[in-house]
Amino acid sequence: MPIRRHDALRPLSRDHHFALQLARGVQSTTSPTLRAQLPKEPRALADHVIRAFRDELEPHFVAEDEVLTAAILGKDAELDGVWREIEREHVEVRDLVAQLGDRSLEDARVEALLDRLGRLLEAHVRKEERSLFERIQEVLDEPTLARLGAELERRHPPRATAL
Ligand SMILES: [Fe+2]
Repeated sequence: MPIRRHDALRPLSRDHHFALQLARGVQSTTSPTLRAQLPKEPRALADHVIRAFRDELEPHFVAEDEVLTAAILGKDAELDGVWREIEREHVEVRDLVAQLGDRSLEDARVEALLDRLGRLLEAHVRKEERSLFERIQEVLDEPTLARLGAELERRHPPRATAL
């Protein structure tokens, strides 16, 4: 069943579409179709991922870390629990991307890191969509959601070009 996403969270969900494509594309078991759109060599693929993270995903993480924390913490035990997991995963993803920046890594190690990052990022995005955002929509009232949406738009404006 497709998830009905509140307007306030829709820009973050659009970023998630991009993140999922990347996350699935770098996994070792990815389909040739997804891999075809990405650099072939492990080092080139790692550099692509590092750039994509810096330009697209890090601003998204920052918006979530700053805006969501302020809006949701302390309102609901389940929501707080999911949010703590999400925060930890943001740290793990950033750490894996930082490890990928080590240019002395052998190709096999780069591929292993990319696979780990891809799996983590895919599971992370799905958790945000299925658990975090769903619970946010259940717990926050309309005015709070509207304020959250406005604050997200101010801190993380939609990109001029489609991702
Ligand atoms: Fe996210």
